[in-house]
Amino acid sequence: MITIVGAGRVGVSAATFLMVRELDDITLIDIIPGRAEGEALDLGHAASILGLSIDIRGSSDYKDMTGSDLVIVTAGFPRKADMTREQLLQKNADVIKSVGEAIKEYAPNAVVLLTTNPLDMMAYGLWKVTGFERNRIIGFSGVLDGGRLAYYISRKLGVSPASIDPCVIGQHGQKMVVVPRLTFVGGKPLTEIASTSEIEEFKKATLDAGRKIIELRGWSSNHGPGAGLAIMAESIKKDQKKVFYASVYLDGEYGVNDVFAGVPVVLGRRGVEKIIELPLTDEEKKEFIESVNAIKKGVSELMQILKL
Ligand code: 2OP
Repeated sequence: MITIVGAGRVGVSAATFLMVRELDDITLIDIIPGRAEGEALDLGHAASILGLSIDIRGSSDYKDMTGSDLVIVTAGFPRKADMTREQLLQKNADVIKSVGEAIKEYAPNAVVLLTTNPLDMMAYGLWKVTGFERNRIIGFSGVLDGGRLAYYISRKLGVSPASIDPCVIGQHGQKMVVVPRLTFVGGKPLTEIASTSEIEEFKKATLDAGRKIIELRGWSSNHGPGAGLAIMAESIKKDQKKVFYASVYLDGEYGVNDVFAGVPVVLGRRGVEKIIELPLTDEEKKEFIESVNAIKKGVSELMQILKL
């Protein structure tokens, strides 16, 4: 069973994409009474119309995640147009604490995928609160940022995003690191087929994408995160061992310690099966370390708030 904690827009989008892939039964949990039950009923009707063999349940009780082998955490406050993701730290600290404690109690063997912002700090917080092995806590980030990068490259260069392999590492936030040299379009590095100004445009559009969506429609992204969570969940549930960019605990990899940051990983039944170390140049590495330092600053604030 897959549990999704948080029946807001991201949770419901993830449930929808997961449902159409018929991976497993889904339990949607939200602390607001009725919310998850209502969404589950509506999704259940959709599954019935589409003829899908899937059971979707809603609940406001964390104990209903019992038996889940995968828990997707989407709970938390979304940001407003005038906020950075980092400014959600204080607001979402308590959310991560109570959700982490519930997972530890009711789904102690689950792999956990997390989207709550500020992502890399919250992934660290969840890892601390649950006490789980590092391979079982995965922050969702690079699939979204990379997906956006591929989208903008695709529009400009007239190549399908399916033939683009984007590379975005480090923080899911203001210090995200787009690596054009390791972004491949039909096997060629982006640096060889796009001009410096085009590359700057792609970087800026990728960094601004989340905020732009909020500005345009008034609320934060959900379809992108929902789609990304679904393909990552699929790789875990089916033990596909596909490579995704995700925020994971680094313990010496990339020369850094005790931090969650975005890097490419292999996802399978055990969660993070392998961390891939990219061959970064000194300059790229410097940018990555700056990004990691920004995450570490947020983590120490979070640890103070949570008294951990
Ligand atoms: C985004 O980038 C909400 O962080 C999410 O859209």
